[in-house]
Amino acid sequence: MSPAPFPELRTARFLLRRIVPTDAEAVFVGLSDPRVIRHYGVSYRTREEAEVQMRWFEDLLAQRTGIWWAVCEPSNPATLIGATGLNGVCTKHLTGELGYWLLPDHWGRGVAGECVAAVLAYGYDAMKLHRVAADVDVDNLRSIALLERLGFQFEGVRRGCELKDGRHLDLRVYSRLATDAAPANSKGGL
Ligand SMILES: CC(C)(COP(=O)(O)OP(=O)(O)OC[C@H]1O[C@@H](n2cnc3c(N)ncnc32)[C@H](O)[C@@H]1OP(=O)(O)O)[C@@H](O)C(=O)NCCC(=O)NCCS
Repeated sequence: MSPAPFPELRTARFLLRRIVPTDAEAVFVGLSDPRVIRHYGVSYRTREEAEVQMRWFEDLLAQRTGIWWAVCEPSNPATLIGATGLNGVCTKHLTGELGYWLLPDHWGRGVAGECVAAVLAYGYDAMKLHRVAADVDVDNLRSIALLERLGFQFEGVRRGCELKDGRHLDLRVYSRLATDAAPANSKGGL
């Protein structure tokens, strides 16, 4: 049986497509930018190191443990401006973890809000997930604001659970259930 086609998603302004090998440079640029990695769990110093992330995207699909999309403008579909998706998917409990990052030139335009809403709708509708969780550095105020706008509920703080650059980080735990009420001004099918 041939594998299912990759599910491209469309929002009002953006195209979410499969991440392909020619995106490696943009993924490296994003995940080595100090503004992006300041509160992000993954970072790379060289293009070669960033190949680990490219393999991780493919492994998610091959092992059916998640799916990440390249965020693009439809007028320029070859250019990745960010990435978002679901990983750590557990088909027994119907849970998954949400992730996202954008190149800083695209912050503050509502790109993440629009694209992450589409990813969540896909997670609940197509993947039948019941719970989507997100762990966020307590100092990552843009990401916290995004999750709260998307209707995620704050569950508590996991203290000292990540060691980064010699600092023990506290992470805020958020979740959104398929059965939670849609947030006010909801977009992207949520
Ligand atoms: C987290 C991150 C994706 C958020 O990006 P963002 O652009 O701030 O988030 P949104 O897409 O929700 O945009 C909201 C902003 O766009 C503005 N905006 C402009 N046009 C808009 C529109 N049409 N719709 C909604 N918001 C719009 C809002 O006013 C808001 O601005 P503000 O933050 O100055 O108040 C980005 O900061 C990032 O890549 N961070 C680094 C990686 C990271 O930390 N990832 C998360 C790890 S948990």
